[in-house]
Amino acid sequence: MTRKLENKVAIVTGASKGIGAGIAKAYGAAGAKVVVNYAKDHVRAQKVVDHIVENGGEAIAIQADVSSPAEIDRLFADTIKAFNKVDVLVNNAGIYDIVMLEDITLDTLHSNINTNLIGTILGAKKAAEVMGPHGGAIINISSTVSLNPLPGTLVYAATKAAIDNVTKALAKELGPKDIRVNTISPGITETEGSHEQGFMGGDWEAQLVAQVPMGRIGQPEDIAKVAVFLASDDAGWVTGERIQVAGGQI
Ligand SMILES: NC(=O)c1ccc[n+]([C@@H]2O[C@H](COP(=O)([O-])OP(=O)(O)OC[C@H]3O[C@@H](n4cnc5c(N)ncnc54)[C@H](OP(=O)(O)O)[C@@H]3O)[C@@H](O)[C@H]2O)c1
Repeated sequence: MTRKLENKVAIVTGASKGIGAGIAKAYGAAGAKVVVNYAKDHVRAQKVVDHIVENGGEAIAIQADVSSPAEIDRLFADTIKAFNKVDVLVNNAGIYDIVMLEDITLDTLHSNINTNLIGTILGAKKAAEVMGPHGGAIINISSTVSLNPLPGTLVYAATKAAIDNVTKALAKELGPKDIRVNTISPGITETEGSHEQGFMGGDWEAQLVAQVPMGRIGQPEDIAKVAVFLASDDAGWVTGERIQVAGGQI
């Protein structure tokens, strides 16, 4: 991989697993100094850091719950302590509870909204503050369900549709500060989370693959390549966009 992110410092939230881990590894390979954020799983986060370092990159793991303003502040403060600045924020940390309407509780609503939506907004707020005069890039991870919700994704899809709109509003607010804000909307992707939800293997997977014109499930590397582009100067005139990375799935 060419070192398109040389001299950039990137925070990837929820990078101990799945898509976030894929993006963190690709950023490390592209020359960025990477902060591998996680909520609970220090062991997996450290494995991602080790992978980046073993391949000649620089990375550290920082625990922080993105739904907490105090922990977001600490995440950015510790990043600046380690690497002096922040150029790129990937708001990837997310949870997806597949719950039909009759089973939705206040807890389902709060947990999805707090992590997926509030976490994204708090991260962007702090990033805009610290990116300051040199500008930067914010990448929000949405989903195909933001435009095409499936049964059981009601709450999750609502948070992702909100993220699409947050991106558009932020691009307008932060453009004058030279901060670009874009959304990546992955289709079904093989991750620890998608295994945990039971999407992989069996009938579910077959049904999901049938919706993908290119005929396969995505891998974190498929999403990471686009995240490298959006963080890089190649995307210097790209902001407010939603890029679906889903093998043609709509
Ligand atoms: N996989 C898919 O098919 C798919 C499709 C479309 C969109 N997406 C989106 O892509 C993103 C990643 O999905 P994934 O499948 O890779 O997830 P995953 O395998 O379940 O991993 C989730 C990651 O988020 C972290 N996390 C969860 N809550 C957090 C919090 N409050 N603060 C900080 N970190 C937190 C987890 O940390 P710990 O390990 O420490 O708990 C973990 O690193 C999500 O936004 C998801 O909505 C996924």
